[in-house]
Amino acid sequence: MKKPNDWKDYFDRTRDKAPSPLLLRALPYIRLRGRALDLGGGALRNARMLAKQGFDVTVVDKEPMVIDEAARVNDSRIHTVISPFDQYNFPYRQFAFVSALMSLPFNPASTFDAVFEGVKNSMQPDGVLCCHFFGERDSWNKKGSGMTFHTSDQVVALSEGLKPLEFVEQEFKSTTVRGAPKHLHVFALIAYKI
Ligand SMILES: C[S@@+](CC[C@H](N)C(=O)[O-])C[C@H]1O[C@@H](n2cnc3c(N)ncnc32)[C@H](O)[C@@H]1O
Repeated sequence: MKKPNDWKDYFDRTRDKAPSPLLLRALPYIRLRGRALDLGGGALRNARMLAKQGFDVTVVDKEPMVIDEAARVNDSRIHTVISPFDQYNFPYRQFAFVSALMSLPFNPASTFDAVFEGVKNSMQPDGVLCCHFFGERDSWNKKGSGMTFHTSDQVVALSEGLKPLEFVEQEFKSTTVRGAPKHLHVFALIAYKI
């Protein structure tokens, strides 16, 4: 559950971190190059890696601070769109790679399925998707969180039209980037768009 300005702290703490391990696991599956979409790019640690891989990267994030992050990185291959996921107009079959790392669960449940359809439709066949979903036993799953939590069966249902390459469920005691205790229940998916 995020309050206004909470992401500033997160951005400060992740700016110089290595890319997400899930992104690194997804890279060997890449068959196509061209455009990549990074949903919830934050302090751009993943977008920077995608640009290094030669992608032209569109980062969609609702936080205007991402514009400052992009100015800091100053890479002409990284473009920012400041928008909530559920107001972004996903272009049809544009992206060879889509990442949504620890970001989609912050979208409200009422629009989650439509957003995920948009994600899938925005991908080229043979494009790679890597993304996280939060599981229903995650400690942030409280009434009024405004976030979305899934069961394994629900993630499988959402994955229609994708060919899963890796699908891992993890549940463990964790800490937030600020060091607060948290029970993390997460699904990590890497898949090809069919
Ligand atoms: C936990 S951070 C992850 C950042 C990055 N993917 C990473 O791995 O370091 C979540 C990101 O999603 C963005 N975000 C949260 N809810 C969003 C929404 N509904 N629409 C667009 N972006 C959102 C936040 O601004 C933040 O940058």
